[in-house]
Amino acid sequence: MLRYTSAGESHGDSLIAIIEGLPYKTPINTDFINKRLNQRNMMFGRSARMKIENDKVEILSGVRNNHSIGSPITLQIKNKVNNMNELNPQIVPRPGHADLPAMKKYKNLDARDFSEFASARLTAIRTSAGALAESILNILGITALSSAVQIGERTCNHQIENHDGNDLNCCKLCHEQFKSSISRVMEEGDTLGGAFIVCFKNVPAGIGTITPWEERLNAKLFRVLSSIQTVRAVELGSGINQSGLKGSQAHGSYESSERGTIKTGDISGGIEGGITNGSDIILKAYCKPIATLRKGYKSVDVTTKQESQGVYERSDTCTVSSCSLIAQSLLSFEILASILNQLYMDNFDDFKGNFERFRWERQQI
Ligand SMILES: Cc1cc2nc3c(=O)[nH]c(=O)nc-3n(C[C@H](O)[C@H](O)[C@H](O)COP(=O)(O)O)c2cc1C
Repeated sequence: MLRYTSAGESHGDSLIAIIEGLPYKTPINTDFINKRLNQRNMMFGRSARMKIENDKVEILSGVRNNHSIGSPITLQIKNKVNNMNELNPQIVPRPGHADLPAMKKYKNLDARDFSEFASARLTAIRTSAGALAESILNILGITALSSAVQIGERTCNHQIENHDGNDLNCCKLCHEQFKSSISRVMEEGDTLGGAFIVCFKNVPAGIGTITPWEERLNAKLFRVLSSIQTVRAVELGSGINQSGLKGSQAHGSYESSERGTIKTGDISGGIEGGITNGSDIILKAYCKPIATLRKGYKSVDVTTKQESQGVYERSDTCTVSSCSLIAQSLLSFEILASILNQLYMDNFDDFKGNFERFRWERQQI
């Protein structure tokens, strides 16, 4: 079973992920991971801290000469800002954060301990584990794409392919408008949310399962998306629009092709009955705006019970584009995990052969 655990704090020494379950001699592409980390940090709308962090992943175990050797793989990102013990107590909880719920859960009036690991800083190391998986999907012929498609009230209805690798990870036709929306709220000391889509191309039909219910591929992918901080709603394909259609309009149909029986006019998002159907997997997620506002926000000092102005520490203005890249990586991990669940072999070349045979055989149906 492919899985990982992550650890670390926002201002601690480092962030760590331990990955288990890859076949022996899986190619490990550190450059690919670092490129994704750099993209995640440099999106327009992030705070100045991102430029300081300049994240680089190091591999501490499980890899020799750029391939897995069968033991758990440890990834590490060193924090450049690692002053956790010097930080002031956080006695004014920030609405929209885990501060107050965690104070109540752990029975402690200083939320600093909890905000250190509730922070989305941890998504850097999760993204590393996911990017490692994405580079393996690429070897299997599967590609992943993502795009910010809504910033605040502005939406983009163009093709996901309409991209030029810009600093908002969005369609080039919407880039300027999205950027000016973010710049405007930045000046106001406010923040913006939005939405993004992630698409996987060339995933063979037949990956996933109907039962047990928690292993259904759509359930696993929804869980991953909603684990990303700020994500508030998730959609598979055109699920929201589909819900308002008549049955006769909502399901497309089948036709025979050289790739076997395939779906046409498919708006299902590539998964039916918990299993891939061979169409593109398309997911959309909606993010709330960042809660920490430079222009201030009302809260309570939990030690005095008096109304208090929340403290502002350097904060992002809009993270939708970063979220799209985080999601692309984390979903890649889940899709690779589902493929390995069905087709695992101890040696990577055997696994790859097994995967290619699986794809070919399913194209005969
Ligand atoms: C990439 C990324 C960066 C974030 N940066 C900030 C930030 O600078 N300031 C902030 O208040 N919240 C930030 N957030 C959002 C909070 O981490 C998040 O809203 C909070 O932890 C509450 O978790 P929840 O949104 O899952 O309820 C960020 C989220 C992501 C995904």
